[in-house]
Amino acid sequence: MITKEIFGELFIIVKNKKIRMKKVIITLTLSIVVVILLWAQPKKPLATQQKKSTTTQTKKSTAVQAKAPAGAQASIERGRQTYSQVCAACHQKDGGGVPRLNPPLIKTEYVLGDKTRLINIILKGLNQPIEIDDEEYTNPMPPQQQLTDQQIADVLTFVRNNFGNKASAVTPAEVKVVRAKT
Ligand code: HEC
Repeated sequence: MITKEIFGELFIIVKNKKIRMKKVIITLTLSIVVVILLWAQPKKPLATQQKKSTTTQTKKSTAVQAKAPAGAQASIERGRQTYSQVCAACHQKDGGGVPRLNPPLIKTEYVLGDKTRLINIILKGLNQPIEIDDEEYTNPMPPQQQLTDQQIADVLTFVRNNFGNKASAVTPAEVKVVRAKT
């Protein structure tokens, strides 16, 4: 009904104003082009938006894999505190250690390796000559068993994801299991 009226009206205008057929065709073609453009426009950004969101999603998930899940991130922040209060005195703020006295915590097999062995170092300390980066360390490390399971999990998760290290988080449950065996 409405379209009929519009077209009727258009026809009248065309007739009244005696616009030449050529002009009408050009106007019609132009309107069709405009309609097509309007039709296509909202679709395009939507498609790119979807693409963008999937790329950010994959970026996010790889970031999570590379870094740590949200829970571990909070653990890392708590661990940072414990590290500066308990460990930094010997292993230094940057984890670089003190040559021949306190070993560095940067990409060592102890930090990145077996979690049980690592947890045991905190709970029982370490008293055996070890070699790291061609440097021998014979000073003993005192046990830190006064720290709670949560604090040990946090500080180790922090160390394993700091100073250029990248390794999985340590959970309080894992510390609990190791402590039960000591
Ligand atoms: C009083 C100084 C001292 C403190 C405090 C201390 N460490 Fe140590 N740490 C040492 C020494 C010394 C060694 C080497 C022990 C050996 O050779 O037997 C060591 C060894 C280690 C190792 C194994 C070797 C390596 O470099 O990878 C790790 C891991 C470690 N410490 C982590 C920690 C963490 C985490 C804390 C804090 C919760 C801590 N230490 C607190 C002195 C300390």
